[in-house]
Amino acid sequence: MASVDKCYNIADLREIALRHVPKGLFEFIDRGTEDEVSLRNNRSVFERIRLKPRVLNDVSRRTQEVTLFGKRHKMPITIAPTGTAGLLWYEGEIALARAAAEAGIPFTLATGSMTAMEKVAQEAGGTLWFQLYMWPDRSLSHKLVERARAAGYEALVVTVDGVVPGNREYNLRNGFTIPFTFTRRNITDVLMHPRWMVGVLGRYLATTGMPRYQNYPTDIKQRITAGPMGRSSMRTDSLSWDDLRALRKLWPHKLMVKGILHPQDAMMAADCGADGVIVSNHGGRNLETAISPMEVLADVADAVGKRVTVLIDSGFRRGTDVIKALALGAHAVQVGRSTLYGVAAGGEAGARRAIAIFRGEIDRVLAQLGCNSVGELSSEHLHAPDFPLRAGDAAPRLKLLETAKAAER
Ligand code: FNR
Repeated sequence: MASVDKCYNIADLREIALRHVPKGLFEFIDRGTEDEVSLRNNRSVFERIRLKPRVLNDVSRRTQEVTLFGKRHKMPITIAPTGTAGLLWYEGEIALARAAAEAGIPFTLATGSMTAMEKVAQEAGGTLWFQLYMWPDRSLSHKLVERARAAGYEALVVTVDGVVPGNREYNLRNGFTIPFTFTRRNITDVLMHPRWMVGVLGRYLATTGMPRYQNYPTDIKQRITAGPMGRSSMRTDSLSWDDLRALRKLWPHKLMVKGILHPQDAMMAADCGADGVIVSNHGGRNLETAISPMEVLADVADAVGKRVTVLIDSGFRRGTDVIKALALGAHAVQVGRSTLYGVAAGGEAGARRAIAIFRGEIDRVLAQLGCNSVGELSSEHLHAPDFPLRAGDAAPRLKLLETAKAAER
């Protein structure tokens, strides 16, 4: 078995993940929607932004700590909600949450996790956020929110870009479903991955039964029949700003809205009382050809960056990616697939490795840019002639100029 310690970047972890899990499952986590234009653009967008380093700035006191909602975290990344960590590894959500806790960064548990939210809270610790997909029956969703509060989740992330399922044709082709079922199409795939069959599926069968959505109320769990992954019939297309206002009344802690791609929606979210927005195109998995969150980040940060916390996700695989988002006005970045590859490659150790890769890369780039902290980053560090940069971003630039002037004196 290849050791995750020999993985030097996220792409290495992805390679191991590809070998470890059945193809249907790998494609479910790895791929996008339709022709995958958004998926590719989420990555290529980073190449349109170059970094402009400053030198001789004594960067020996580097820290990558950030404050989110008044709480210090050791790194500017957080773990995005992904319902499938528990399919890649037995109780993979706990493995991922533990790795996040150890690294001092928040972990977001998805509504659609394979491990119940109470169990994750009991066994992982650390800063836990809960992601909510609203159901047609709002009272059931509100009960779920109440459970998250009782279990000690510190923030609620309501995802608003999944009103209808994305068109993921490969899921139909591969025959992978949740709740998991053996089908003619996937049985060979599963048999060809005995480590996964025994170590993940086998362990569930020996304990809690076929992996299924453990946060769902019992009657729904029994009612839903297996459907192609990512096609849960439980999402709703009647979601509106009123739902957000209702959640604001119900949830006493920090509230974030995930799936924002327009500055006006970011302002609406703030007006409805949200404490944060997550600029996201769902990792290129929902609306095909949706703009990359990086392309709207500066506008969103200018619109609401002083009122609410701005997070971003979709396509982050390198420290340079994270640094570019922070320089464009994000307060932190969420990572989805990067740590999922880690979990698939080696459970908790793999997740720790993925986070450590980001830590090392972010630290190196901070130093190379002439910065001691992420707060010093601004558009001044970016060269991006054809890319929207921030308008209201003068403060860090002035600080750099002052430092340079003081050094001259
Ligand atoms: C997701 N994502 C997601 N988002 C959400 O709000 N609820 C969910 O249940 C899921 N589930 C999910 C499963 C898988 C396998 C993936 C890859 C993603 C989206 C996720 O939170 C995030 O927006 C993207 O993953 C970010 O893009 P990267 O980092 O994966 O490129």
